[in-house]
Amino acid sequence: MTKNNTVTITDNRTGATYDLPILDGTVGPSVVDIRKFYAETGMFTYDPGYTSTGSCESAITYIDGDQGILLHRGYPIQDLAPNCRFLEVAYLLLNGDLPNKAEFDTFEQAITMHTMVNEQIHKFLEGFRRDSHPMAVMCGVVGGLAGFYHDQTDLSDPHHRMIASHRLIAKVPTIAAWAYKYSMGQPLMYPRNNLRYAADLLQMMFAVPCEDYVVNPVLARALDRILILHADHEQNASTSTVRLTGSSGANPFACIAAGIASLWGPAHGGANEAVLNMLEEIGTPDRVNECVKRAKDKDDPFRLMGFGHRVYKNYDPRAKIMAQTCHEVLEELDIKDPLLDVAMELERIALEDEYFVERQLYPNVDFYSGIVFRAMGIPTSMFTGMFAVARTTGWVAQWNEMFVDPAQKIGRPRQLYTGPTQRQFVPLDDR
Ligand code: CMC
Repeated sequence: MTKNNTVTITDNRTGATYDLPILDGTVGPSVVDIRKFYAETGMFTYDPGYTSTGSCESAITYIDGDQGILLHRGYPIQDLAPNCRFLEVAYLLLNGDLPNKAEFDTFEQAITMHTMVNEQIHKFLEGFRRDSHPMAVMCGVVGGLAGFYHDQTDLSDPHHRMIASHRLIAKVPTIAAWAYKYSMGQPLMYPRNNLRYAADLLQMMFAVPCEDYVVNPVLARALDRILILHADHEQNASTSTVRLTGSSGANPFACIAAGIASLWGPAHGGANEAVLNMLEEIGTPDRVNECVKRAKDKDDPFRLMGFGHRVYKNYDPRAKIMAQTCHEVLEELDIKDPLLDVAMELERIALEDEYFVERQLYPNVDFYSGIVFRAMGIPTSMFTGMFAVARTTGWVAQWNEMFVDPAQKIGRPRQLYTGPTQRQFVPLDDR
């Protein structure tokens, strides 16, 4: 971060001027440092939805939404997704550089050694209704892990923080798979340490104890790539939630549970589930126009799910790789999914439509992911859970980064108060 310039603002009520420092990063928009703004002006800034607010300094992920660029530690997603394993990207996010072979083996071994969860977790699961949404189960169980690792974690110790991070990256897939198995009434499958990360997730979801299960390598590779595409996305709602929760010194498992809760919403990670429900509701390509019309109608709350993004005002680079993965998987498995025809027609019409063109609404990462998940046999209700497995890596990387940032403070936004001013209290009997 460099500080070379200032911006001057004038309060037109008094004529007073204030110089605010401008901070430059390595690439991307500069920021105006307003940390002393309240102390100097007596005013807060106002930015609901944080559309113009940088909440922290970060060296993990860079997005240029206008150009459709996504870099992790400087590497374009287009290079990482086809050439890396998910755990290589996890290492990159956590440690800053891609691992060499020895570093990768050590990291993979460290993650693999933490894949089991305490047996008591079975009892947690049994407390849930069978038809609970898997994200509700994941939120509860991941948060519950805080009870198992509370006193052992000294947050001021980087080694302790790294162990908590490894545990989370390792255990969240086990919990996600178990949330699914529980909903199916099937026996829970333990992790198998001879399998790689994505293959093991497939095994825990689809194997049953009475049969041998052979992981389809095409599906394992595709899932691994999907996990890479979802691994991190700078200061989005769930990541900011993890940072804000963590800023108070909260237990890391509780922080990740908070991230899972935020991710669940349909405007964020829940969109992949909503896209598939929408495509199913449309049913056939000839009904696409009707749906586009609804999305444009300001009196109708319906939105085209899988379209639009707060940051991307161009094609989401992850969506392009996801569409390609989708075609590859369907071809490899020889699946003809009519929903793919609906999706392609929807994309074609929306990209030509003035409403979407004007507002720069392009398909996002969730637009095609549901069709790939469906081809893999993953039920719709588990889509967001798969996203949570992947994003756990980004969450823990950002959580760790927060601790080494000297500017880090407990997050505490202010507000523009619009309620009543001080009123005379009247006792109950006199009201
Ligand atoms: N369908 C129809 N209109 C839309 C859509 C959409 N999907 N997205 C935005 N718009 C319109 C919106 O109505 C507004 O129009 P106007 O200017 O006439 O009022 C304009 O585009 C700007 O929208 P906004 O709501 O101000 O934009 P935002 O940055 O606050 O919202 C978003 C971003 C992702 C929440 C939104 O585009 C959306 O709801 N998309 C559908 C849900 C979705 O696919 N979410 C996944 C995001 S990617 C994965 C992730 O990061 O979790």
